[in-house]
Amino acid sequence: SANNLVNIVEVGPRDGLQNEKGVIPVDVKVELINRLARAGAQNIETGSFVSPKWVPQMGGTSEVITRMERLPGVHYPVLVPNHKGLQNIFSVLDETKFTPPITDEIAIFTAATDAFTRANLNTTTAESLRQLEPVARTALDKGLRVRGYVSVVIACPYSGAVDYKRVREVAKALADMGCYQVSLGDTVGQGTPERVAEMIEEVKKSVPVEKLAGHFHDTYGTAVANVFAALAQGVRTIDSSVGGLGGCPYSPGATGNVATEDVLYALRGSRYHVVGSNNGTINLDEVVNIGWWISEKLGRESVSRAGRAIRAS
Ligand code: HMG
Ligand code: MG
Repeated sequence: SANNLVNIVEVGPRDGLQNEKGVIPVDVKVELINRLARAGAQNIETGSFVSPKWVPQMGGTSEVITRMERLPGVHYPVLVPNHKGLQNIFSVLDETKFTPPITDEIAIFTAATDAFTRANLNTTTAESLRQLEPVARTALDKGLRVRGYVSVVIACPYSGAVDYKRVREVAKALADMGCYQVSLGDTVGQGTPERVAEMIEEVKKSVPVEKLAGHFHDTYGTAVANVFAALAQGVRTIDSSVGGLGGCPYSPGATGNVATEDVLYALRGSRYHVVGSNNGTINLDEVVNIGWWISEKLGRESVSRAGRAIRAS
């Protein structure tokens, strides 16, 4: 039933690549996005319109979104931290006269603690929400979908354990400004299934579970378990990263997101069905190949456990 359909938001091209040391050519990013879309990914985060001084790796996002393919039925969100980021997207949209390839969705982001918001956005959480409200409104007026992120929903690298009531308030503020979905980020990856369940139970008091997504970094190896804890709470959208790439530049030591391959593998034969653009599926074998291809471009092996096992078999 529809109740068992799971959406994946592929964050590899954004969360995955934003933390890399070396420069990744635009061609490689474009090929990564195109390959993921052809493998059936229905939501692909393509990059960020953030300050290139803060995150140099995302500097080429305008070129990426003008050069990538845009398959029907696939959403291609980009992250925006402020009004200036939105204006920069609009200038790309104007240059391309709104003809594809363009983006159809932005993602705005803040955090459950002031310490993290300060490190990531150079302001407080309350001030970031105040600044994001007109960004969301303008984007919605222009017909873009708006997604919201709350970072550090379990633990903060600067201020420790997080108060889930604060997560709930921030998630509600994002939903109230028109975000169709709010993604709950375990940025540090310290989450355990028990804590994730408790956190989501709290957030559900103010935001309907249909609007929530889970975003788990895999620092402690608990991300797949956390995905199932979120599913058990009724969450039906999971953010994941091909090859397990990723990390936030402002979360020292945190590793990548849960690998898309690992999520797809773990959901096989379960009561859940992963929705893809390509006849309703995302092709696990293709994603494994893409995970190895991009990891090798970055000079290493895929860190996806399923990706390694499937290649070896
Ligand atoms: P600031 O330094 O306070 O900004 O940074 P400012 O307004 O003083 O501007 C500084 C310079 O940046 C100026 O240029 C601006 O024009 C420029 P200058 O005059 O010095 O030449 N600028 C911009 N340039 C391009 N695009 C923009 C933009 N805004 C200002 N949008 C700012 C504030 C928000 C800009 C900065 O803190 C920033 O860019 N932060 C983004 C950090 C980031 O991208 N973090 C990673 C993404 S979030 C994440 O990974 C977590 C997530 O995965 C979920 C999870 O895991 O929890 C989503
Ligand atoms: Mg993240």
